[in-house]
Amino acid sequence: MEPIRFDAAVLRASRTPLSIERVEARALGPDDVLVRMRAAGLCHTDLEVIEGQLVFPLPMVLGHEGAGVVERVGPAVRGLAPGDHVIIHWNPHCGHCFYCDRDKPILCETYVANGARAVGFDGAPVLRDGGGATLHNLMYIGAFGECCVVPSQSAVRVAKEIPFEAACLIGCGVMTGLGAATRIADLEWGSTVMVIGCGAVGLSAVQGARLAGAARIIAVDISEAKLDLARRVGATDLVDATRDDPVAVAKALTAGRGADAVIECAGSPRTFRASVEAVRPAGQVVWLGKTGFNEEVSFRWGALMQEKRITRSSYGGTRPARDFPMMVDSYLRGELKLDELVTRRIRLDEINDGFAALKRGEVVRAVVCYDA
Ligand SMILES: NC(=O)c1ccc[n+]([C@@H]2O[C@H](COP(=O)([O-])OP(=O)(O)OC[C@H]3O[C@@H](n4cnc5c(N)ncnc54)[C@H](O)[C@@H]3O)[C@@H](O)[C@H]2O)c1
Ligand SMILES: [Zn+2]
Ligand SMILES: [Zn+2]
Repeated sequence: MEPIRFDAAVLRASRTPLSIERVEARALGPDDVLVRMRAAGLCHTDLEVIEGQLVFPLPMVLGHEGAGVVERVGPAVRGLAPGDHVIIHWNPHCGHCFYCDRDKPILCETYVANGARAVGFDGAPVLRDGGGATLHNLMYIGAFGECCVVPSQSAVRVAKEIPFEAACLIGCGVMTGLGAATRIADLEWGSTVMVIGCGAVGLSAVQGARLAGAARIIAVDISEAKLDLARRVGATDLVDATRDDPVAVAKALTAGRGADAVIECAGSPRTFRASVEAVRPAGQVVWLGKTGFNEEVSFRWGALMQEKRITRSSYGGTRPARDFPMMVDSYLRGELKLDELVTRRIRLDEINDGFAALKRGEVVRAVVCYDA
């Protein structure tokens, strides 16, 4: 078999630009799948690695929100074939460790251990650079390369009708936000939900709330453009946090009680605090955002009392094989809005501009579109 060589964006040191390099993937193992990438979204989590807030071994190929076409499969792979359209997910899991047995694949011991090392799910490196040195890959993917080698369980086959640039968003931001509303917050029909932060994750939480039958969806952001998009995808009330206090609005709209559920998708001490203040007694708070790993966040103790339930979720309780095809079908029925979230399309060699735009808050998702 000829070697698998392709271009990828490599982060060599934090707070430096990514460089486009020719890299090589390992020969396919029995359970590996080679995916020719067609689109990959720039998520805030990638930016956190670039900025050094999330620390991983480097050099690394980032990118964990991707979709593409299966090109080759290892000999033990079942259920996937060349030509299949797939969305890649970042939670491969062993299925039989302490946490897998307790229905928490996101805490799978192999997933956590090898994820921190940023290598393949089998513990071995997946990529090498031009000089033959190991290249790490983020979250078992490395979607900012023209190809990816992933374990077969990470590639979820979906309907071919969905465009790749919309499909890729399901791989992280959309699943996380939509899952928080539909799988974690367990919203009741007719409830009042506040979503703080309207990037791709928050706009997907707004949509999850809509699809779960929330009557009132209060979207909070500091950008008018993001709030306008929130309205277009289902928010009923908008709060510009540069002008108005989200906590006061949540109370004003609920006879002083607070929202039934608050989903935090901004990732700052200020918004974590607002989330627990804005929820009603016995309400549900879901934190999706991240702040510095070792940063302390303080709360007014009284805001945590009264039977409030607070969950910090990675990936919105996803079961990708169940959820991804459902979301694709929802998109194809016109219910789940994804095209609206793709606010910039870039080539791989424009990726540093894409991250600069994400940092400035100019884009919901900049998406790398690979040539067909
Ligand atoms: N839990 C997970 O599995 C998971 C997955 C993906 C991303 N994330 C995290 O979720 C968060 C959102 O990710 P994203 O990719 O949508 O990021 P993003 O940068 O596109 O969106 C963040 C939004 O929050 C808004 N914001 C900033 N400060 C605010 C404030 N004080 N009040 C209200 N809004 C404010 C910004 O204007 C922006 O629209 C990030 O912290 C990211 O790391 C978590
Ligand atoms: Zn496990
Ligand atoms: Zn992400």
